[in-house]
Amino acid sequence: MSKKLTIDDIEVMGKKVLVRVDFNVPLKDSIITDDNRIKAALPTINYLINQGAKVILFAHLSKIKTIEDQEKYTLKPIAQRLSEILKKDVIFINQTQGEKLEKSINSLHNGEVLMVENTRFEDLDGKKESLNNEDLAKYWASLGDGIFVNDAFGTAHRTHASNVGIAKYSEIAVSGYLLEKEIKFIGNTINNPNKPLVAILGGAKVSDKINVIENLLNKADYILIGGAMMFTFFKAQGYNVGSSLYEEDKLDLARDLLFKAKGKIILPIDCIVNNSFNNQGEIQEVLIDKIPNGFMGLDIGSATLNLFAEYIKQAQTIIWNGPMGVFEMSNFAKGTSRLCQEITKNKKAITIIGGGDSASAAINLGFENEFSHISTGGGASLEYLEGKKLPGISCLTDKMESNVNI
Ligand code: 3PG
Repeated sequence: MSKKLTIDDIEVMGKKVLVRVDFNVPLKDSIITDDNRIKAALPTINYLINQGAKVILFAHLSKIKTIEDQEKYTLKPIAQRLSEILKKDVIFINQTQGEKLEKSINSLHNGEVLMVENTRFEDLDGKKESLNNEDLAKYWASLGDGIFVNDAFGTAHRTHASNVGIAKYSEIAVSGYLLEKEIKFIGNTINNPNKPLVAILGGAKVSDKINVIENLLNKADYILIGGAMMFTFFKAQGYNVGSSLYEEDKLDLARDLLFKAKGKIILPIDCIVNNSFNNQGEIQEVLIDKIPNGFMGLDIGSATLNLFAEYIKQAQTIIWNGPMGVFEMSNFAKGTSRLCQEITKNKKAITIIGGGDSASAAINLGFENEFSHISTGGGASLEYLEGKKLPGISCLTDKMESNVNI
């Protein structure tokens, strides 16, 4: 991939700089329950403030299909939280277009921050944001002074007006510090890893990870598999999996992956089962070929953890995506939690969590600062691990191409 311009390549003093961030954070009754994505954008926002830019933030929250969604998903609480964290006023404008927005942007002083309302409010009118409507993209780009900073890694797999569209109609489009970090850790590591590269994949379904497994088979030395998706592999090999979750229509695919893997795929040897999908019940640890009828596997077992630990110890690069068990239930969190311990014990390796559930698991289990990198992307990380080009990165200005003097 060609090298892209970064925020360090531009001069922003006194300029109206448009910045796309991913503040799509979980909310419960309008209260933010996890503000990691907001914190992750701080290096870029603070840099722009300190450099005297007029910072105009674009972000989306959830999907907007109805007027009720609009009421529920205003960015107002997000702007408030950002203001608390920055210890600085954040001017919030409850419009995505219009005179109030334009006037407020034009009266910004150097170092001030303004947040535009949820970009997906534009989806109520013909899905303008999500279908990358040209007029909307042109309009948003016109609000700035020709500079666009994309720091929204979590949204980089989308071709929307607020990322790819604004980039197209800006004179120069660069990555922010978060996006740069994600490119460095996930993109560069996948393409040029220190070997051995051990990938660890979990989660419920093989179908969610097929392309990741296929891509990693060419890059990784070993792929350790946990989570409910292990049962599709076991069923494909003819084991009795009791009432464990597995995908009947993916058995051929699982067999094919095992064949292609030529020994690179390492499956669990034991698991923790229960007689119901519940934190309590007749919980026991059994070998994979001894799962009793009526019991379902909800975590990997201790022999598996010891086996995985041996691979993890040898690794120079470790990439992990997907929990090992139902970590939300305390009796089935041990696999994921011990996996975090084993990975973070290996101090010589670059250790990366590819976002989503495994990122929340590691953070909730107290390993937030122990990994080299925890991705802020969910779908974006998966597509990046699949080896796909992400439009939110491709749309940035190439280093060589740029002859703009800003
Ligand atoms: C995410 O939460 O993964 C990103 O913000 C993208 O959100 P989306 O799946 O609604 O486009």
